[in-house]
Amino acid sequence: MNIKSIFNNLIKCKSPQELIDEGVNSELKKTLNAFDLIILGIGAVVGTGIFTIIGSAIVGSSDGAGAGTAIVVSMLLAAIASVFSALSYSEIAAMIPVAGSAYTYTYATMGEFMAWMVGWILMLEYAIGNITVASAWTGYFVQFLKGFKHILPAFIVNCPLWLRNDYRTMYEMCNKYGWNPQDAMPFLHLPFGIDVPIAINVPAIAIVLILTLLLIKGVKESTKVATIMVGVNMFIILSFIIVGSFYVKPENWVPFAPNGVEGIFTGAFVIFFAYIGFDAISTAAEETKNPQRDLPIAIMGTLIICTILYVCAALVLTGVVPFNAIDTQAPLAHAMRFINMNWYAGLISVGALCALTSVLLIYQLGTTRILWAMSRDNFLPKSLNAVHPKFKTPHVMTWLSGLVVIICALFMDLNLSAELCNFGTFTSFIIICLAVLILRKTEPNRERPFKVPFCPWFPIFGILTCLALMYCKFSAKATSALYFVVWLIIGVIIYASYSYHSKRLEEQGEN
Ligand code: ALA
Repeated sequence: MNIKSIFNNLIKCKSPQELIDEGVNSELKKTLNAFDLIILGIGAVVGTGIFTIIGSAIVGSSDGAGAGTAIVVSMLLAAIASVFSALSYSEIAAMIPVAGSAYTYTYATMGEFMAWMVGWILMLEYAIGNITVASAWTGYFVQFLKGFKHILPAFIVNCPLWLRNDYRTMYEMCNKYGWNPQDAMPFLHLPFGIDVPIAINVPAIAIVLILTLLLIKGVKESTKVATIMVGVNMFIILSFIIVGSFYVKPENWVPFAPNGVEGIFTGAFVIFFAYIGFDAISTAAEETKNPQRDLPIAIMGTLIICTILYVCAALVLTGVVPFNAIDTQAPLAHAMRFINMNWYAGLISVGALCALTSVLLIYQLGTTRILWAMSRDNFLPKSLNAVHPKFKTPHVMTWLSGLVVIICALFMDLNLSAELCNFGTFTSFIIICLAVLILRKTEPNRERPFKVPFCPWFPIFGILTCLALMYCKFSAKATSALYFVVWLIIGVIIYASYSYHSKRLEEQGEN
């Protein structure tokens, strides 16, 4: 086989028509309006970002400077990066309304190799993103247990740190508080003088395991549950803003940007996690009554509502707790403890646990769906799509998704996994913006129920803002940037050693 034919295979595209024909749900009822879409958007967006990551985006971590109160500027930057990509998502989703998200769209525009890579990168967004959510879940779970310290045994309320943190977080705490790691956690002594620290985030692993079992049994998604969750989220955040605002000390806002522009950009990269999920709106394009009008309203509406909530919550948090005392595990609940409102901290913890559990469930489902689409296209073994004889769910795939999260959670902390997830999402946004530009050239006459305004400028701005935020992490030589490159290389290796050949066998079967 010569280089030219290999190259031709790599860029083989599925036609948009082929994709549309494959979409089994093409007869979906058009029932959603802009309000429904906004509820959907907020339900998918509000979660770990505002309940947990905001802490490290403000304070910083071993991998990057924090933004301080200037996190509000970072939030606006992250919202801008999101909006251009969101519009691009809407154009393609309305034009090719099939499941599979960015992976499917890439197959229609950039060919087989890029489609595989995007699917592989989406695993970062969904599976690795879930490590972040699961770690955040632990933070609020511990706060929640503290509310019952008079009832529960002390060994549960104050369970050892090494049983509720991963080893990276343990080392970070040792550095911060000057502890000796040998005292803070047990070590496994292996031959050749190798000592392995033992630190396992048991609650995070347990919740992923429980949800995996639940998904195997079959959980019906319901818009009613989503609406209730959105109500709980809104109530908790709004009440945090209202109650907390009475305790704000403006002197805590000074200095506004303790780490200058670097802190603001790093903060924008990190807090971007809080905006991930609005692509769920564009995937409902096909079920929308008036996509041309409602999709942009819903996308802009979700982003505006979330940005206002986030900015207000950030101002209250930084105003109530001095910069250096902000907690990075459960910052909102901790802020309430800081002003001695322990019962309120408990309430926030319950709200956060509900929100994070639903995000975990959505992301776990998302991982399974993307893996399913990739396996259907023969990039992964078809045997992974086996359906459980009793529960009729894709149990092998669901276990696989759960195990990836559980295993990676052993050596990744909340910040590292959030940053990796952001790298994945930025890359998929760039690809979506590119796909809009390509499809405008290759399929100029295809009907577009929704069109990105000011094309090509908006998609180009989308690409540039995502690139700029990714660049700030690369230039800081962050660990997450290194892991991202390693992830891409592993993706190329799997494609070259398995998927490429599997696709050729599929073609031979067809011929
Ligand atoms: N935006 C979602 C969250 O913050 C992923 O949890």
